[in-house]
Amino acid sequence: TRIYVPCDSAALAVGADEVAALIAAEAARRGLDIAVVRNGTRGLLWLETLVEVETPQGRTGFGPVDAADVPGLFDAGWASGHPLALGLVEEIPYLARQQRLTFARIGITEPRSLADYLAHDGYRGLRNALALAPAEIVATVTASGLRGRGGAAFPTGIKWNTVLKAPGTEKYIVCNADEGDSGTFADRIIMESDPFVLVEGMTIAGIAVGATRGYIYVRSEYPHAIARLEGAIAVARHHGYLGADVLGSGRAFELEVRKGAGAYICGEETALLESVEGKRGIVRAKPPLPALAGLFGKPTVINNVLSLATVPVILDKGAAYYQDYGMGRSRGTLPVQLAGNIKQGGLIELAFGVTLREILYGYGGGSASGRPIKAVQVGGPLGAYLPESQWDTPLDYEAFAALWAVLGHGGIVVHDDRADMAKLARYAMEFCAIESCGKCTPCRIGSTRGVEVIDKIRTGAQPVQQIHLLRDLCDTMLNGSLCAMGGMTPYPVLSALNHFPQDFGQPDTSRH
Ligand code: NAI
Ligand code: SF4
Repeated sequence: TRIYVPCDSAALAVGADEVAALIAAEAARRGLDIAVVRNGTRGLLWLETLVEVETPQGRTGFGPVDAADVPGLFDAGWASGHPLALGLVEEIPYLARQQRLTFARIGITEPRSLADYLAHDGYRGLRNALALAPAEIVATVTASGLRGRGGAAFPTGIKWNTVLKAPGTEKYIVCNADEGDSGTFADRIIMESDPFVLVEGMTIAGIAVGATRGYIYVRSEYPHAIARLEGAIAVARHHGYLGADVLGSGRAFELEVRKGAGAYICGEETALLESVEGKRGIVRAKPPLPALAGLFGKPTVINNVLSLATVPVILDKGAAYYQDYGMGRSRGTLPVQLAGNIKQGGLIELAFGVTLREILYGYGGGSASGRPIKAVQVGGPLGAYLPESQWDTPLDYEAFAALWAVLGHGGIVVHDDRADMAKLARYAMEFCAIESCGKCTPCRIGSTRGVEVIDKIRTGAQPVQQIHLLRDLCDTMLNGSLCAMGGMTPYPVLSALNHFPQDFGQPDTSRH
C-alpha cells in the first residue's frame, strides 16, 4: 500500500516530515508493507498534513494529521470511520468543484519524479511545440487568451511576439518567482509541488522566441522551492529535456536559478533584471520595454511562474481548450489564493467569472474567527479593499478595473469586523515607505508623508484638511510614480477611506 504525505512547505510547517517518518516507523514495527510517498500539496491548506491512502476506489484522505494521531490511525486500520477520515480526496467539494488546468498534477504526483511527471501528461506540450515553427507556438499562446498572471494581465502571446520579432540572436527567458504579495503562495506551490511544469514552460518559451538561456529568480524565503527547482533542472538536463540539443531537436535551452535577497521591489520586472545582473534592485525607466532591451540589454521574455507554468497545458491540449474557460477578455483559469481570517484557506483554481462571495463562503466557509467579514484585500498589499457591496463582482480583470480594484496575482486576504481600516491604510503607506526603491519622489517621499497624514487623521487633528491632503498625496503618487509600487499604494489607502469613512472619523456616506 502507498501512503502519501505532502512535502510542500505548508505541510512541512505543520510537521509533515514527522508524520511521514512516524508512518514509516509504525508500518515497519507492525510488519506492514507500506511505501511512504512524498507528493505535493493539494492546496487544501487547513487540512495539512493531509495524508492519503491508496485504495482500489482511489486515494482516501485523513487530515489534519498530527504525529500524535499516527498510531491511532494504524489501530483503526486507516478506516473511513476514523474522526480524521475525509473520504475520497478527489471528492472533497473544495477540490472537486475546481477547474485545475495549471494545477492539474498538483498534489497527485511526486514533485521529484520525472517518471511521474511524464506519466501525468508531462512534456507533451514541449513535444508538440518542437513540431511547430516558433511563430506558430507564439500564435497558439496568443490564441489561448492567456494574460500575465503576475498581476498586470498583459497578453502573454503579444509579449512573446515582441521578443520573437526583436532583432538579435541573444535573447533570454526570465521567470519572476519573487512572489512577494501578502497572502499569495501559488508560485511557491507550483515550484515545490510540480517543478517540471515550470521548466517545461520556460523551455517552450525559449524555443518559441529563440532564447537559449533562462533564469528563474526565486525569493530567498523559498528554500524548498529553490532546492526542488535545482533538482528538476538537473534531472531534466540529464534526460535531454534541457541542454545543447533539447530532445534531439537541434535547439538549445539552459536554465539557472537565481536567488533574491528579500526586497519586495525586486518583484518589479526591471528591478528584478538589475538584481539578476548582480546590481542593486532599482527600477529602470520604461521604455525600453524588457521585451526589446531586458536582461543584459537583450530582448527578454519576463513572465510570472503561473504564466509560464500554464504554457505546457496550452501546447498540450490546444489554444481552444484553454480559451474555452473564463469570461469576457479574461480567458482560462485563475489560481486564487485564499488567506487571512478565513476558515478554509488554500489554493482554488477556477475559471474567471466566479464571484468573490462564492470564494469567501462557498469555498472559504466564512471567517476563521466566526465574526462577520468586513473587508477583503484582493491583489496583494497594493490591491484595493473591497466591502461587502462589491463581493458579487465576478473575478474578471475588467470587472475589477471598473471598481477601481485589481485581481493582481490572485491573492485574497480576509479581515473580520474588528479590522481598523485607517490602520490598514497606514500600513499600506508604511509598507511603501519601507520597500520603496527610492528612485522617484512621489513614492520615496510621498509614502512617508502618507504615514504622517494618516497618523494625524487617526488622532483626530484637523480631519477635513488632512483627508484633503491625503487625497491630494494619493493623486500625486498615482500619477507621478515610476512603477506600480508608488503608483498602486493609493489603491488600499483610498479604497479603505472611500468604503470605510467611519474608521477615519468621517460620517458613513458609503452605500454598503
Ligand atoms: P505593466 O502594465 O507595466 O506591464 C505588464 C507587462 O507587459 C510587463 O512585463 C511589460 O514589460 C509588458 N509589456 C507592456 N507593453 C508591452 C508591449 N507592447 N510588448 C511587450 N511587452 C509589453 O505592469 P507591471 O508594472 O509590470 O506590473 C504591475 C502589476 O504587478 C500590478 O498590476 C500588480 O498587480 C502586480 N504585482 C504583482 C506582485 C506579485 O507578487 N506577483 C507584486 C506587486 C505587484
Ligand atoms: Fe522606486 Fe517607488 Fe519610484 Fe517604483 S514608485 S521607481 S519603487 S521610488
